[in-house]
Formats: sequence, structure tokens, C-alpha cells
Amino acid sequence: MNAASADSGVRIEGVSKHYDAEGGVVRALEGVSFDVDNGEFVCIVGPSGCGKTTLFRIIAGLDDATDGAVYLGGDRVEGPTPDMGVVFQEYHLFPWRTVRGNVAFGLEKSGVPEAERRTRVEELVELVGLEGFEDSYPKALSGGMKQRVAIARALAADPALLLMDEPFGAVDAQTREMLQTELLEIREETGKTVLFVTHDVEEAVKLADRIVVMDKEPGRICETVPVDLPRPRSRSDAEFGGYYERVLDLIRSA
Ligand SMILES: Nc1ncnc2c1ncn2[C@@H]1O[C@H](COP(=O)(O)OP(=O)(O)OP(=O)(O)O)[C@@H](O)[C@H]1O
Ligand SMILES: [Mg+2]
Repeated sequence: MNAASADSGVRIEGVSKHYDAEGGVVRALEGVSFDVDNGEFVCIVGPSGCGKTTLFRIIAGLDDATDGAVYLGGDRVEGPTPDMGVVFQEYHLFPWRTVRGNVAFGLEKSGVPEAERRTRVEELVELVGLEGFEDSYPKALSGGMKQRVAIARALAADPALLLMDEPFGAVDAQTREMLQTELLEIREETGKTVLFVTHDVEEAVKLADRIVVMDKEPGRICETVPVDLPRPRSRSDAEFGGYYERVLDLIRSA
């Protein structure tokens, strides 16, 4: 399953994750359930330590849940799969590979023939606006450019779902805004389902069709807020502030 038309909906069903720590059991997640519809853009927000990264890693198949299950397009996720393109907060690029080499990585691993790979990589480099930097190494790129490479690499296998954990957390405010706009354009162009973790409420209101707000200790969902605003959205829009305050209040009272 990797065509855009395939069912890329996500179902998170009763997911709990407990860690044994010195002070006792840490309930990082407790009974977390929600769905992401095919083609939907969902942001998960919550205070530091509420379990966002834990949930992200379980959805990505990188960690096991203590309880519960995750389904992508109806299939249970039991490990990392090319049906999900994953972007981490830190760039996680291969420093010994060029931009082209980084973007091509997954395609090489899945045995896509070279000619096809080349075309696909060219398309992706263009999609994320990195033409001219194909032969650069990560060390020669800015933070924003590195994250564009990470996004292109995540999209390489044409995954059903793009899963991102604070992907713009490490770049300056101006670059962050640019990347947000670009991500919305990419989403528009590709129709991908996006599940995006952030602790930045403004970012969530700007991007999401729906915001899932989490509580901490134990990590669980306290509310889901649909964002019914036309795009492009701006902080200065009259209704933007209403959503912003509402989500912030939910987090503060969590
Ligand atoms: N491997 C681990 N062992 C023990 N406890 C852990 C482990 N990973 C996470 N935790 C704990 O689980 C809770 C949730 O952590 P997590 O990193 O998922 O939060 P987060 O919402 O992503 O926070 P942030 O916004 O700071 O990134 C925290 O209390 C954390 O200390
Ligand atoms: Mg985190």
C-alpha cells in the first residue's frame, strides 16, 4: 500500500506505555485512542513530558506499546514500515551521503532501479526547493535545508502517512514559518495524511485540520479541537486568536 488513493487512515487504540524508572512506574501514555482520517492533517500538542515522542515512536513502529495497538489503513503496525515517512526533530541525516544520497536512501534499500530512482530524487529535491544542492553534504546545509532533505527522504517511498515529531523545533522562527508554508504546499500537492507533533500551539493552529491536546502524568488525550479556518492562516486573523487561546487554556489546565 503506497498509492495516494490507498487508505492512509490511522487508528490509535487504547495505547498505554509504562516505563520502569527508579522512582516507580512512569505512565508515559495511558489509554490513548484517536483516529486520523485519510488525507487529514492532525497535530498533537501537549506540555513537555506528556508522551508525544513516546506516542510518535509507537505509531512509527519504533517502540512497542505496553498495551493497545496502532493501525495504518486497517493493518496493525508491528514495526517500521515504508508506508510511513518519518521526520524527527533532529535532522537524522547520513553525514557521509549527499543530499541526493540521503533522499535516495530508502529507494536504494527497496531496490528501485537506478533510472527510476534518479527521476524520483529529482522530483523530490524540486518539491522541497533544494535544486542546485543535490551534491552538497549535510554539514554544508543550514538547519532549514537539512530538514527539507529529511522531508524529501521521508516522502521518497511515497508513504501513505507522513509522521513528524517537532520537525521544525530546531530552526529559527523565520525558517520555521517558511517550512510550515512549504509543508502545507507539499500536503496540498501530494494529498498525504499528516500526523504532526509539536508543543507550539501557534504552529498547531496554523497547520492542523484537528488538534489533539494531551495531558501529562499520565499522558493521555484531554480534548480534540477541530480547526475550522481557511488557509493560509495567519496569527493576526480574528478567529486564529480564539483557537490559540482555547488550546493554550487546555494545556495550562492539564
Ligand atoms: N526510555 C524511557 N525510560 C523511562 N522513561 C521515559 C523513557 N522515555 C520517555 N520517558 C518518560 O516518559 C514521559 C514522556 O516522555 P516523552 O519524551 O514522550 O514526552 P514529550 O511529550 O515528547 O516531551 P517533549 O515535549 O519534551 O519532547 C516522560 O516522563 C519521560 O521522562
Ligand atoms: Mg518529544
